[in-house]
Amino acid sequence: MAKAKIKFADVNVTVTVPVGTRIIEISEKVGSYIAYNCREGDCGSCLFTVLDGAENLSTPSSLEEATLFAHFQEVLDGWRSAGDLESLQSMMRRENFAGKTCRLACQTQVFGDATVAPI
Ligand code: FES
Repeated sequence: MAKAKIKFADVNVTVTVPVGTRIIEISEKVGSYIAYNCREGDCGSCLFTVLDGAENLSTPSSLEEATLFAHFQEVLDGWRSAGDLESLQSMMRRENFAGKTCRLACQTQVFGDATVAPI
């Protein structure tokens, strides 16, 4: 079975896990401060940032994108009012929002090495 190394920068712990494992399944075991609540992609409490290896994580689903959009609603409202929602969505898909790669731990699967931290 293929494996991936995930480093949790907040607790300085690196673990090797099977590919396809969700970040939340690992974070709670290593004591990372990545929070969670619903575990279903709805609440947005499990936000984390990817410090390295974003290309090794699953592509955000439409549910994850919607929750990320809602989380950043205040900022996004300004973009929407400027009538540029399409380019905003494109930018978020490139995962470079506000200079950070923001993802949801309950939705993100690992397919290769990465370094993550709570936001
Ligand atoms: S725990 Fe609620 S969105 Fe991830």
